[in-house]
Amino acid sequence: MSRLDSFIRRLEAQRSLLDWAAASIGDRPGLVLEVGLGNGRTYDHLRQKLPGRDIYAFDRANNANPASVPPPDRLLLGDFFDTLPEFARQRPGQAVLIHADAGLGDPAANVIQVRKVAAMVPALAASGAIILSDQRFEHPDLLLQDAPVPIPPNRYYVFIRK
Ligand SMILES: C[S@@+](CC[C@H](N)C(=O)[O-])C[C@H]1O[C@@H](n2cnc3c(N)ncnc32)[C@H](O)[C@@H]1O
Repeated sequence: MSRLDSFIRRLEAQRSLLDWAAASIGDRPGLVLEVGLGNGRTYDHLRQKLPGRDIYAFDRANNANPASVPPPDRLLLGDFFDTLPEFARQRPGQAVLIHADAGLGDPAANVIQVRKVAAMVPALAASGAIILSDQRFEHPDLLLQDAPVPIPPNRYYVFIRK
C-alpha cells in the first residue's frame, strides 16, 4: 500500500469514527475534548457535527488553519502533561467524548507519550464516555471496543471509560 493510500485510509477511519461518536453521544450533556488540535481538521469536523457543544482543544501551540481555530477560552496551549492534568483538576470527569490524535513520529518517544496520555484520560472522562485514539491505550479504566463502523484494523481505537 502506498503512503497516500495509507494516509487516506487513516482519514477515512477518523471521519467514520468521529461521525459515529458524535451521533452516539447524542444529547448526553458533557464536554468534548480534542487532544491534538494540529491543523484543526478533526476539530472542525467535530464542531460541525456537534453544534452548540463545548469543545476544548489542546496542543503545544496553535498551528491550526485560521478557519479552524477554537475560541480563545476553548484552546488550551502547552504540553499535554501540563494542560490535561490542570483541566482534569478544574473539570473532573466531564468529557463525554475525547478524541486523541497525538501520535509522535519517534517510536521511542511515542511509547512514553501514549502511556502518559492514557494515564491522564480517565480523570477527564465521565463514566461511559467514548474515547477515540490514533494510538492504542492500555489502562484498566479504558475498555477497548470492537470498531463500531468498518475501519481498517489497527488504524484507530475506540474505548469506553469504565
Ligand atoms: C497529528 S496532529 C493532530 C491533527 C489534528 N487531529 C487535525 O486533524 O488536524 C498531533 C498534534 O499533537 C500535538 N502534540 C503532540 N504531542 C504533544 C504534547 N506532548 N503536548 C502538546 N501537544 C502535543 C502536536 O503539536 C500536533 O499538532
